[in-house]
Amino acid sequence: MGLSICAALAEAGHRVAVLDINGTAAQRAAEHLRADGATAMACAVDVTDRDAVREAVRKVRVEFGAIEILVTSAGLVDFAPFTDITPEAWNRVVAVNLDGVFHCAQAVVPDMLAAGWGRIVTISSSSAQRGSPGMVHYTASKGAVLAMTKALAREYAAAGITVNTIPPSGIDTPMSRRSQAAGHLPDSAVMAKAIPVGHLGTGEDIAAACAFLCSEQAGYITGQVLGVNGGSVI
Ligand SMILES: NC(=O)c1ccc[n+]([C@@H]2O[C@H](COP(=O)([O-])OP(=O)(O)OC[C@H]3O[C@@H](n4cnc5c(N)ncnc54)[C@H](O)[C@@H]3O)[C@@H](O)[C@H]2O)c1
Repeated sequence: MGLSICAALAEAGHRVAVLDINGTAAQRAAEHLRADGATAMACAVDVTDRDAVREAVRKVRVEFGAIEILVTSAGLVDFAPFTDITPEAWNRVVAVNLDGVFHCAQAVVPDMLAAGWGRIVTISSSSAQRGSPGMVHYTASKGAVLAMTKALAREYAAAGITVNTIPPSGIDTPMSRRSQAAGHLPDSAVMAKAIPVGHLGTGEDIAAACAFLCSEQAGYITGQVLGVNGGSVI
């Protein structure tokens, strides 16, 4: 999903920095974007590591200048019955999905404030909208991201920074395939039957909505929850 979002933002003319804990994958993504004519760089960073996030953002600033757009897509899913969720699993899921957004947003907001313009899009989850059993920690972390998005939107509306969230559902990505392979999600044909449009979504579906929210034209849209879910949550 993150790679599709990078490609869509590059297509819209933005220079793109790919930040991911998997440095090799981030490098590959940046190379792929450059091969398509984009200006792209990669940084290996664990979003739970506040200092590493700040250092990565510093490097991006050196290469590309002030940060104008932030999309937080890094995420960790975990499945367990509520009574089996260990404090360690709880903390790790919250650290990646929620603290990561906090660290990244705090690192870039000063640039946006100085410019009087900014776009932040958080990738939350439909689980935050409907409550997903068997993943209470994941659901809680994404619910917090959704609420945080609204609070940030109000805090920075007058400063020219919009903050919106996309809660995806049923998107065919490595994460959902891993969850299927582990038996936590049904196979794609079964999932498709439960989705009103009748098929899974793609990273490109998310990317198109995200690129719009990051555009100049979306300047009057802030604090919104734009479900990209094939009608699963209405
Ligand atoms: N796929 C879906 O149907 C779906 C549904 C709801 C929400 N989401 C959310 O969408 C976002 C993207 O998910 P995806 O399906 O592309 O998952 P994915 O696992 O395919 O990609 C997630 C990326 O995040 C990176 N990452 C994980 N932990 C990190 C960390 N600590 N620091 C930096 N990078 C880290 C991974 O290396 C990976 O590249 C996630 O936040 C996920 O929770 C996905």
